[in-house]
Amino acid sequence: MRELLKFENINISYEKRQVLYDLSFSLNSGEILGVVGNSGCGKSTLLKSIMGLSGPKVLTGNIFFENIDLLSLNASEMRRIRGNRISMVFQESGIHTNPLKTIGDTVFESMKAHKQISKEEALDTATVIFENLSLPDPKRILNAYPFELSGGMNQRVGIALAMLNRPSLILADEPTSALDPIVAVQIENELKSLREKYNTAIILVTHNIKIARNITDRILVLNNGKTVDYGKTCDVLSSPKSDFTKELILSASG
Ligand SMILES: Nc1ncnc2c1ncn2[C@@H]1O[C@H](COP(=O)(O)OP(=O)(O)O)[C@@H](O)[C@H]1O
Ligand SMILES: [Mg+2]
Repeated sequence: MRELLKFENINISYEKRQVLYDLSFSLNSGEILGVVGNSGCGKSTLLKSIMGLSGPKVLTGNIFFENIDLLSLNASEMRRIRGNRISMVFQESGIHTNPLKTIGDTVFESMKAHKQISKEEALDTATVIFENLSLPDPKRILNAYPFELSGGMNQRVGIALAMLNRPSLILADEPTSALDPIVAVQIENELKSLREKYNTAIILVTHNIKIARNITDRILVLNNGKTVDYGKTCDVLSSPKSDFTKELILSASG
């Protein structure tokens, strides 16, 4: 297993207010890291800093991805990585798609942004990914507009779209929290199967420690922007160091 992503002593602020403190962790290829913590503790900010999205300012520290120093890249170098080597799944999958375009058109657009490809090749690639994720009737999905699909199906499509350019890392920000529990479990299983089929590493942000227990290899628990527990999922959950994590585990089992 090779190290894919490494955070070294990262401090991040918005304007003058610091929101993440001395954050260090690493992730190997094909691993799933759960980032857990209360609302406002800095989970989304952590993901934004990997994507190089504007807003959060990294004050000090290093972020290495595939041995590239991400913080040294300029905007166009970062665009080459974003949506290509690293892609994102959001809470509301609508962000991936355009309401005025069919899923197939969105597929073609997101692939041709990164490589020369015909529409037919793009749709073939999407069809294989849809099949691998057991999405029913890929042809119908490709011809559909987002509003013609259910919320759960849109989210499953969102995950498939994130895979189009075969990223080595997917960042998933609370991907199941807007869905009913049955669909949520299905999506969790799909994330797991992505790792099995494509060896994609995933950072899964969730405030639900049960989800983290089911699918992650490592867990990072944040409280008010600080790491309170980090390690192998089974170790963290069986012997948490912080009272905060103990509370989370207790409240999830109650
Ligand atoms: N664009 C922004 N500008 C200023 N403060 C922000 C911005 N985005 C988030 N914050 C603040 O940073 C902290 C962490 O936010 P966030 O990373 O979104 O937390 P989480 O995803 O864990 O709920 C919160 O206090 C939030 O209010
Ligand atoms: Mg968030």
